[in-house]
Amino acid sequence: MAEEKKKILYSGMQATGDLTIGNYLGALRNWMTLNEEYECFFGVMDLHSLTVRQNPAEFRQRARNLFALYVAAGLDPEKNCIYFQSHVSTHAQLSWILSCYTYMGELNRMTQFKDKSSKHADNINAGLYTYPVLMASDILLFQADVVPVGKDQLQHLEITRDIAQRFNGIYGDVFTIPEPYTGKIGARVMSLQDPTKKMSKSDENTNASVYLMDDADTIRRKFKRAVTDSDAEVRYDVVNKPGVSNLIDIYSATCGKDIKDVEKEFEGRGYGDFKMAVGDAVANMLTPMQERYEEIRKDKEYLDRVIRANDEKAFYFSNKTLRKVKKKVGLTEEIR
Ligand code: TRP
Repeated sequence: MAEEKKKILYSGMQATGDLTIGNYLGALRNWMTLNEEYECFFGVMDLHSLTVRQNPAEFRQRARNLFALYVAAGLDPEKNCIYFQSHVSTHAQLSWILSCYTYMGELNRMTQFKDKSSKHADNINAGLYTYPVLMASDILLFQADVVPVGKDQLQHLEITRDIAQRFNGIYGDVFTIPEPYTGKIGARVMSLQDPTKKMSKSDENTNASVYLMDDADTIRRKFKRAVTDSDAEVRYDVVNKPGVSNLIDIYSATCGKDIKDVEKEFEGRGYGDFKMAVGDAVANMLTPMQERYEEIRKDKEYLDRVIRANDEKAFYFSNKTLRKVKKKVGLTEEIR
């Protein structure tokens, strides 16, 4: 009996900076459950990371660390295709082709390009500019139906759809038009030092972010120092009490408790108690993952084996699309 075909889901993270609990609670943790419903592909987006200057030795470690972290967080590499973007040559190839179907006017409008160019004024390279074309290629190569991304990436998904529609308009149905994933999404975690800003892996103030590899003491200390307000009531009110509300969100996501129940649990108790409880809960959530991570990261043979198998799978799958594209645009066939 033919198995019913699952829809395809594609996502990935850049191998830049250490992941925070924002990345975990907002994305990674929720990815694990998706493979029941979707055929899932998750990339370590290392080519995208090159748009910002990297220290090669560090970068190499970081990319492998991110892969190991995907696995440690619970993504099963047998059930999901997890792979390195740079190991699968189809990405760069499709990206070139699609750059010839993308207008400068469209790229000029990308807010992330504008942001990043003002942040890296000394290195406004062409890769930073064509970044969305590479991202479109990632998604379109796999014929993704849905893409879970944060708000900051929605504009890139929009341009992906535009490019795909334009291409299909000329050559027929080559690409699936991807939609943003609208299923249950994770918590939005804000900075512990400025709760009106998203927690970021590139925040200069290391007290603002809790990293997945922070040890339990560091985690507790960061929550203890988290910015709150001057009254002492644990009550959810994003406008007037953004700091406490962020902590409630984190606690609720970590323990799977409702916000109302959290408020009740800490009624009449001060911030000190509450912060301690959040710190403990987060530390308890991360410690087992950190232990798994250390084991996986040490097991070179295992890692190499799953990397090879998944890279191959990603190539095989994506190359079907690339071959079709090359044929459609009129590139001559390779003779083997
Ligand atoms: N640009 C994304 C980010 O920084 C990472 C990314 C690259 C991505 N290619 C992708 C995400 C394809 C989803 C799908 O978050």
